[in-house]
Amino acid sequence: MSQLSHRTATAADEALYLQWANDADVRKNSFNEAQISPQNHHLWFSKKLKEEEALLLVFVNEEKEAVGQVRIDKGDYLQVDISVDQQHRGKGYALQMLQMALTEYVQRFGKNIRIFSLIKRENISSIKTFEKAGFKLQEDSAHPLYLKYIFTPLN
Ligand SMILES: CC(C)(COP(=O)(O)OP(=O)(O)OC[C@H]1O[C@@H](n2cnc3c(N)ncnc32)[C@H](O)[C@@H]1OP(=O)(O)O)[C@@H](O)C(=O)NCCC(=O)NCCS
Repeated sequence: MSQLSHRTATAADEALYLQWANDADVRKNSFNEAQISPQNHHLWFSKKLKEEEALLLVFVNEEKEAVGQVRIDKGDYLQVDISVDQQHRGKGYALQMLQMALTEYVQRFGKNIRIFSLIKRENISSIKTFEKAGFKLQEDSAHPLYLKYIFTPLN
């Protein structure tokens, strides 16, 4: 497994993010499973880049290939989104990426935060990744198809 580095996403990453967002497994594991149009993606992505509390990190391997992204941002609450490029799944990158993104978020915004993740019950690789990164399962009857996980840096 390659040691990863990360950089903050820029407007030049719009097409890369759209490609990752429309990946079949990414859509299957999302709330809204429909494909995303380039127009909607453009509006969403340009807005996200400007949000002060949003962290959008692109992860790069030692061969300088972009292998995935982690986004931590505010919807109804602070939440994390992660995807690994299809070519690079099954290599253990997700845990490395998630840990680095959490460290970066805490460095920027402090430890007094709670970060959530909603994960489809059948998404085993994601569940394993979040549990290894220190996320704890929360009861949440509002989402029968999902498990709700919480990460609190202070605990
Ligand atoms: C979920 C995702 C980020 C995981 O990334 P990844 O780098 O491929 O994950 P890994 O290969 O490190 O797998 C994570 C763990 O799950 C395990 N795993 C994967 N599939 C499994 C299965 N069917 N049964 C049991 N364990 C499984 C792996 O062995 C690994 O465990 P280990 O660290 O103990 O070896 C990636 O598959 C992805 O981008 N999926 C589409 C988007 C998505 O679902 N995002 C998450 C939304 S919450």
